Amino acid sequence: MKNMKRHLWCAIVTIIICEIVNSLAQSGCISPAIECICQQKGNTFIINCRDKKLTQIPIFNKTNTEYDELTFGSPLTDTTMCSVCNKITSIPPRAFENIRVKRIDLTSNALTIISNDSFAGVEIYLKELLLQGNETKELNYAALKNLTGLTTLHLEKFQQTTLNSSNIFGYLQNLESLKLKTFKRLSVIESSAFKNKVSKLKTLWLEGLPLVVYPAGAILNIPSLQSLNVINTQVKKLYSQSFRDLRSLKDLDLSHNLIDSIDNDTFAGITDTLLFLNLAVNRLGYNTNKKESLHFLSSQHWTDLEQLSLAYNKLDTIPDGPFRNMPKLAYLALKSCQLSFISNGLLQGLQNLHTLDVSENRITQISSNAFVHTPQLKKLRLDRQHKESIKDLVLNFPPTAVEPIRASLTHLNVEHNRVNVSQIWEIIELLTNLEELKLQNTNLVAVPDFVFRYHTQLQILDLSENQISSLDQKSFHGLKDTLTSLSLSDNNLTTIDECVLQNFSKLNHLYLANNLWNCDCDLLWLYDWIEMSAEPGIEYIVECVCHSPPSLRENLLQTVNRSHLSCTPAHIPHTCPDYYSTSIISTRIRT
Ligand SMILES: *[C@@H]1O[C@H](CO)[C@@H](O)[C@H](O)[C@H]1NC(C)=O
Ligand SMILES: *[C@@H]1O[C@H](CO)[C@@H](O)[C@H](O)[C@H]1NC(C)=O
Ligand SMILES: *[C@@H]1O[C@H](CO)[C@@H](O)[C@H](O)[C@H]1NC(C)=O
Ligand SMILES: *[C@@H]1O[C@H](CO)[C@@H](O)[C@H](O)[C@H]1NC(C)=O
Ligand SMILES: *[C@@H]1O[C@H](CO)[C@@H](O)[C@H](O)[C@H]1NC(C)=O
Ligand SMILES: *[C@@H]1O[C@H](CO)[C@@H](O)[C@H](O)[C@H]1NC(C)=O
Ligand SMILES: *[C@@H]1O[C@H](CO)[C@@H](O)[C@H](O)[C@H]1NC(C)=O
Ligand SMILES: *[C@@H]1O[C@H](CO)[C@@H](O)[C@H](O)[C@H]1NC(C)=O
Ligand SMILES: *[C@@H]1O[C@H](CO)[C@@H](O)[C@H](O)[C@H]1NC(C)=O
Ligand SMILES: *[C@@H]1O[C@H](CO)[C@@H](O)[C@H](O)[C@H]1NC(C)=O
Repeated sequence: MKNMKRHLWCAIVTIIICEIVNSLAQSGCISPAIECICQQKGNTFIINCRDKKLTQIPIFNKTNTEYDELTFGSPLTDTTMCSVCNKITSIPPRAFENIRVKRIDLTSNALTIISNDSFAGVEIYLKELLLQGNETKELNYAALKNLTGLTTLHLEKFQQTTLNSSNIFGYLQNLESLKLKTFKRLSVIESSAFKNKVSKLKTLWLEGLPLVVYPAGAILNIPSLQSLNVINTQVKKLYSQSFRDLRSLKDLDLSHNLIDSIDNDTFAGITDTLLFLNLAVNRLGYNTNKKESLHFLSSQHWTDLEQLSLAYNKLDTIPDGPFRNMPKLAYLALKSCQLSFISNGLLQGLQNLHTLDVSENRITQISSNAFVHTPQLKKLRLDRQHKESIKDLVLNFPPTAVEPIRASLTHLNVEHNRVNVSQIWEIIELLTNLEELKLQNTNLVAVPDFVFRYHTQLQILDLSENQISSLDQKSFHGLKDTLTSLSLSDNNLTTIDECVLQNFSKLNHLYLANNLWNCDCDLLWLYDWIEMSAEPGIEYIVECVCHSPPSLRENLLQTVNRSHLSCTPAHIPHTCPDYYSTSIISTRIRT
């Protein structure tokens, strides 16, 4: 965790440094307002007024430079405690008439006063406009009427109760993307709202609106839509033919609603156009007809669908084959769906499945035929089953289940589970094409000899939070040319002899924190390795803290005086046998 933080911290520092360097490099890029800075990124010029404590739109000097963006926003989602953030509440008349700018971002301010001619003078340049209100005031839509060149309009936190035909969107003939977010009282979108208005609209985003009924009538009047997001509303049911005329729709996100019932032919008309469908965080499976909750999927043909999320629903009783008509599905998320079993038939028909996320369920049993349907499976997430109450349950994962995906599987995550240890190692032995293997907190006490001997791709291995007390040269044999990251933190290790990681040429992340390191001459190799790798550009994260001898306790290994890493004279120095050139491991060796 500490390492993660440090990592993140480094990343943040790097970004900040980059920002500073960027802002210094002002070649040809001059801010027309003294309060702001100009940033050049490639061919784009940005007037950056972020985090300048502004309470008003600054005065801009007249300029003929064409800027791509003028931004007052903040990357923070909550700016109430932010002392440097802008707090602009009004846009005076003709505020931008001296500049030529394509995009104005005023999100994370709380606008209450916008006058009819606030944008006068910038109309012909402005393509994208992002505005945020203070939740209690209506937006003066008249101010936007003349912005006929707008392609993107994002509005957040304005007061409004209905969206009907008397709106200004009809004037915005070029609008391609419209977002209405956190309009806390907008509960009705009338069928006529978009009728004959937004003929070029490709993306509609409705988020955080108290809609009780999905506004099918209104949205069916936008046949040009390619991407539709109706998120965080109070919609409970989806009815037949709700999308039928949206023949260009590719992405549909209906996550974070209260949907517990979907008619069989709700998606009729778009099941052959959709590439992406998100129904995560809904109430599927919570109503009385829970066995039928996925009939809307199995009763249709989803010819092109590539990604489907049903995460955070309740799918514990679904019958076999819910995805059988999805020949192109590559990504399936069933995270946190209260699944207790991966049956023979669950994955039926998923011949192109590439990623399966069944983490955070209650799985105790995986059928030995579960993956016969998914010969292309590359990434499998099985982590965090039986989180709370039922801690005594063991994940029964028969090794024969992975036979059909032996060649394809590259990423396996079984973190935070009570596994059957002998099964897991047998599975790992079979999966020789693994690139990433996550075994954090899985009750492991040892690494079987030569278990990785046939692995030719493994780069990332996480064995942290286990009870491994010793390792030797046989433990990671086979990985010297591929392993880049190894985590052994939070184990019971007292030492690692120098043969274990000798010649591991790619290893650049090694996590050793929270073990019982005995800092003696056996760790000299590690000491020297840390010294050597303290060169810039190479990142070794070791955090090896001595537990013994008492004189060195609590010292970080690399801060110890090298000559204090001593052994008794009786100590026998190491020699590392060359297993690569012997036939010693040609027979199957088991622990
Ligand atoms: C704006 O113009 C005034 C008067 O010409 C000048 O003094 C000032 O430096 C200019 N400001 C910027 C940011 O260029
Ligand atoms: C702003 O425009 C609207 C609609 O065009 C008009 O009704 C209103 O009177 C105008 N307000 C001002 C202050 O001119
Ligand atoms: C909008 O454009 C029309 C025609 O150019 C002009 O008469 C009107 O004053 C403009 N309205 C605003 C609020 O700038
Ligand atoms: C929003 O702005 C109005 C008018 O300035 C003000 O009365 C109200 O208190 C503000 N509301 C919030 C939540 O800031
Ligand atoms: C349409 O909505 C506006 C508010 O956005 C409201 O003032 C107007 O009365 C509504 N018109 C009809 C016909 O409902
Ligand atoms: C929905 O589809 C399922 C499976 O194809 C079928 O058994 C069921 O009768 C259908 N329900 C309705 C209401 O048509
Ligand atoms: C672990 O799996 C093996 C072989 O599949 C089985 O014989 C054994 O009983 C299992 N152990 C537990 C604790 O379930
Ligand atoms: C690992 O260490 C923990 C606590 O220090 C101890 O409870 C546990 O028995 C040890 N496990 C093994 C396998 O040595
Ligand atoms: C390391 O320890 C030796 C012997 O105790 C001592 O002579 C030497 O000065 C120490 N080196 C450093 C850098 O502290
Ligand atoms: C490391 O490489 C050297 C030189 O090729 C070889 O002699 C030695 O046996 C290797 N060590 C291990 C542990 O494989």
